[in-house]
This record gives sequence, C-alpha cells and structure tokens, in this order.
Amino acid sequence: MNRKYRHTVIAGNWKMNQLNSGVKVFLEQLKENMPKARACDVVLCVPALMVPSMVRYGKDCRVAAGAQDVSKHEKGAYTGEISADMLADVGTRYCIVGHSERREYHAESDSLVNEKAKALLAKNIIPIICVGESLEQRENNLTMEYITYQVCAALSGIDAQQVRHCVIAYEPIWAIGTGKTASAEQAEEVCREIRAVIRRLYGARVARAVSILYGGSMNAGNAAELLSMPDIDGGLIGGASLKPADFASIVASASQD
Ligand code: PGA
Repeated sequence: MNRKYRHTVIAGNWKMNQLNSGVKVFLEQLKENMPKARACDVVLCVPALMVPSMVRYGKDCRVAAGAQDVSKHEKGAYTGEISADMLADVGTRYCIVGHSERREYHAESDSLVNEKAKALLAKNIIPIICVGESLEQRENNLTMEYITYQVCAALSGIDAQQVRHCVIAYEPIWAIGTGKTASAEQAEEVCREIRAVIRRLYGARVARAVSILYGGSMNAGNAAELLSMPDIDGGLIGGASLKPADFASIVASASQD
C-alpha cells in the first residue's frame, strides 16, 4: 500500500450469494466487527438486486455499494440487461468488470470489458477492472505478456483523467476460490508490472495514483502480508467477504501502518 499517493480499497465480491433480506443484518454484524479507525475505502459488490439495500444500510457503517456487471449499452431493447445509468440512479459507486468468471462463463472479450468500463466511467461509477492469467499461462511464463495485453485492451480509449478513476484488480485465475493464494512476492511482481504498463501508457503521475488490488483467496490470515507490498493497494475478496468478521478483519489489516 502507498497511502500517500492513492486510496486503499477493500472490495468484497459476493458473487451469486446471500439474499436481499439478509443485507441489513450482515451490515450490522460487519459494523460490530469493524476497526474503530479505518484507512481504506470499503466496498461490497453485490448482485444488482441488492444494491439499493447496500446503499441504504451501508451508509451507517461507511460501506459503498458496488455491482458485479453492467451492460455496454446505454439503453434500449436489451432484455435482462442493466445499464450504467440504472446503477448510478440507485447509488452504485463501484462496479466489477471483466471478472474471470464472466470472461469464462459468459464469453466476455477484452473489447467488451473495455466498452463496459467506458459505460461506467460515463456515469461516474468506478470500474474495478479484473485481469489475471490462467495456471497454464503462468507455467509457460506468459503471465506478464498476457497481463500487459489485458490491461492495454481494457484501457483502450480511456484518457488519463478517466484512468485515475479506475481500479485494476489482479486476480490470477488459479487462485480464485481455490484456497491457493499467490505469494505476496508473486502478487507484488504482477501488480508492479501493471503499474509499469500504466506508466508507459499515461506517465508516472497517473501510474502513481491508480489503485491496484490483489484478488484470489485473500483472507483474514494472509491479507496483512499481501497488503504490506508497495504496489498492492487493496483486495478484491470473494469467499471471505461473505463472513462479516473475516471481512472486517481484512479491513483492519488494510488500516494498519
Ligand atoms: P475468492 O474470490 O476470494 O473467493 O478467491 C475472489 C474473486 O473472485 O474476486
């Protein structure tokens, strides 16, 4: 973390878990466990149906509401889709784009991820852009090449002013939901490279200001070490964000000096 230049962000990703009727109780329990002094932005990215509850009850414990996906279209005949305008209208502050589960199960391409990020920026919603290599790519030493490609593709046509409002999440696919965390050194190495890519594209000042998160089996036990790395500015947390005490403990790790 480097709080001098950028925000530390702890974002939960509930995926397709929990119920709207449980949001209030979850947040009450979270509040009880939260550290008194907090030095990071806390976000919960929830199914779109639960965003209004997250906005309403999240205020009390300073948790911002995030969504997990958005349509690339502005509006119109796109049955089942949810636009950035609709998300903004109910108070969504962040939205994940390009999560590996959407890339894999919904065939999302890099250009679609880019269009979705732009749709969000146009409505002042912070995109949390996910990138990450497969195990096969890592084993074939293709990690940096692939991550560089994904970052460049996701940011295509996004200007320097806008990129300051983007968050990048490095999530190695082999570490998501598997209990296998990247070591702090492995995670730092890739996050540092992501910052170097942003520096090449936008210059040093912008690169210094963009928050880069690590995601993939981050939990209460390993968060402090990962967050101690200079280029890891927070976490995108799946499983451990479903348990108020665990999630609060990660927030506490992100609040230490
Ligand atoms: P995990 O999920 O923490 O359960 O590995 C992370 C993510 O998919 O964002």
